[in-house]
Amino acid sequence: MKTTISVIKADVGSIAGHGLAHPAILKKCEEILAKAKEEELLIDYYVTNCGDDTELIMTHKQGEENEEIHEMAWNAFLEGTAIARELKLYGAGQDLLSDTFSGNIKGMGPGVAEMEFKERPSDPVVVFCCDKTEPGAFNLPIYKMFADPFSTAGLVIDPSMHNGFEFEVYDVMEHKKVKLSCPDEMYDLLALLGTISRYVIKRVRRRDDKEIAASISTERLNLMAGQYVGKDDPVAIVRSQSGFPAAGEIVEPFAFPHLVGGWMRGSHNGPLMPVGQKNAYPVRFDGPPRVIALGFQIADGKLVGPADMFDDPAFDRSRALASEVAEYMRRHGPFEPHRLPADEMEYTTLPGVMEKLSGRFEDI
Ligand code: 13P
Ligand code: 13P
Ligand code: MG
Ligand code: MG
Ligand code: MG
Repeated sequence: MKTTISVIKADVGSIAGHGLAHPAILKKCEEILAKAKEEELLIDYYVTNCGDDTELIMTHKQGEENEEIHEMAWNAFLEGTAIARELKLYGAGQDLLSDTFSGNIKGMGPGVAEMEFKERPSDPVVVFCCDKTEPGAFNLPIYKMFADPFSTAGLVIDPSMHNGFEFEVYDVMEHKKVKLSCPDEMYDLLALLGTISRYVIKRVRRRDDKEIAASISTERLNLMAGQYVGKDDPVAIVRSQSGFPAAGEIVEPFAFPHLVGGWMRGSHNGPLMPVGQKNAYPVRFDGPPRVIALGFQIADGKLVGPADMFDDPAFDRSRALASEVAEYMRRHGPFEPHRLPADEMEYTTLPGVMEKLSGRFEDI
């Protein structure tokens, strides 16, 4: 019998501004998930938040894209929204793009990462949750985990990983996908992955047996809604040990706080800061973007844990570097490359400014 892990997340309201999901929302979601566990729809669950995003981490036997699981998560977010409206929280129901559930939560606003697998004798899993960034933020660290031997030693020294991994990459603009294998197709893969706003890793599988290794949410809110309704704030599930990267190899790429799109108004580049859950509260210029890592052991579907993996003093230097980079980037004010290029900005006054100035442009 296989176990499914579903991580479904949405921003349905926060304090103050786009800061922190209110505890009353998390409590309501816990109540709904507890009931689903009692009714044996879920085996186990864990509710958390990264900044203003509420994350439902759930285990069950229903497989991926299950209507009942998705509808239950949707209803939890709806009830959270009702509380957010009552408390006049900021962005009440922000990520819910529709009024009615239509069979699958995909395309309705919330982010979804799911995977189904037969449990090994011991199955460590790491769940990553981000705030103030987009799905492409995972491209660099997931690439390093599964394809860079300078980051993951096991690619070289562990025979069970030595044949490498296959990456499924989505083109979120053209709604197409392609599978590329590493190490053979590494350069082709990197040619795509560098364009983080368009090409995003959806899944990683072990080449030897196609066993699922990682799953990432790839929903792009603005592409769904056709307007800015907040950033996509992605989540990822990664399996660890015995044929997959060790837990320490999975968190290692985040020691480098690489630049990602997001931050203030979803329109700025900034460093992705790895933090313990208690510091998953982006304040400065609504950031800098954050990522948390929760480690679980999966035991007959039970979520044993979590371990708050970035709550480790060994990441202090990464956080200090992220703060320094944040300071450096901020000094650019409205200039690129701090501000995103015009075609990737979530907000823009540019058409209005161009219209106002249209009669004043002269030939040179
Ligand atoms: P331990 O001896 O602490 O179990 O470490 C094993 C290991 O391989 C760590 O990467
Ligand atoms: P969120 O997607 O986290 O709500 O961020 C929106 C924003 O514009 C922050 O400045
Ligand atoms: Mg928000
Ligand atoms: Mg958010
Ligand atoms: Mg968001």
